[in-house]
Amino acid sequence: MFELFLYHIHFYLLNSILHSSTTEAEEINRLHFYFLWAASFVLLVVTVATIYVIYKYRHHENGQEYQPKTLSGKWEIAMIGVPLAMVVVFFFLMLKTMHHILPSADGKKPDVVITGHQYWWEAQYPGTRVTAANEIHLPVGRTILLKLLSADVIHDWWVPQFGNKMDLISGRQNYLWLNIKEPGIYTGACSEFCGAQHAGMRIRVVAQQESEYIKWLQEHQQVATISDTLAQSGAQIFQSETCGNCHNINGTASNGKAGPDLSHIASRQTLLTGILENNKENLTRWIQDPQKIKPGAHMPKFFLDKHSIDALVAYLSSLK
Ligand code: CUA
Repeated sequence: MFELFLYHIHFYLLNSILHSSTTEAEEINRLHFYFLWAASFVLLVVTVATIYVIYKYRHHENGQEYQPKTLSGKWEIAMIGVPLAMVVVFFFLMLKTMHHILPSADGKKPDVVITGHQYWWEAQYPGTRVTAANEIHLPVGRTILLKLLSADVIHDWWVPQFGNKMDLISGRQNYLWLNIKEPGIYTGACSEFCGAQHAGMRIRVVAQQESEYIKWLQEHQQVATISDTLAQSGAQIFQSETCGNCHNINGTASNGKAGPDLSHIASRQTLLTGILENNKENLTRWIQDPQKIKPGAHMPKFFLDKHSIDALVAYLSSLK
């Protein structure tokens, strides 16, 4: 619980929405600052006018009071006209921004298809055989199209530094355009309440230069090789304990779709959408008792003996 709390603090300090990491976020933040300046101007005018009125029409000890005056027509026109003009101007600025950051995706091929699940993210790369989970690799320096789907309830994609956000709705196809400026790790979170582990449904984007991105795609099309004997017995336990009913591992009989694809789980830096570091200790804790780590997650507890868990961990840790 405390770990989660620290994560939240870390999350909000590092992921300021005002830090634009995509060209879309730049546009949104530019509009945001136009709004902020206009609102500050209105606040200033109203504050000065209020102070003036309070001072001018204050109570006088000698009993002399100012009589309220009726304003001239010019003032009335200005007081209606200026706010109206601001609303109209901002309405058009907003339409312009929306049009620019979210053009139609009709007939366009998505670069990545992202499916929200309770409580993890699936990323499928069209034109390749790559399906990844939770750590979503994206290229920088070009505009890419994400297609957003849901396998169950409504989720919401939001990486604050990317600016835009979009719901993932069952039975609907939503789209989002991104042009990420710099390589790096970007974190976000599901932003639509989707159940017990909504707060544990993090987003982790690994933004890479085009060449590294292509290399990552190529590596992930390969079947991971396992060499040591403990890992090999882990592979058998994975089959016999029916892990493959929910999880896919390329090159094996496991082809489940309900849980995250584990074909290259060892190449990820984190587990459980970024809540835990990916190491043998955490993997062991997770398999031992998933509900203790992420209460409400759909991964059941398997009551395995220590040797079986060690073998499974050795197997999964070898899937690079
Ligand atoms: Cu998925 Cu909230």
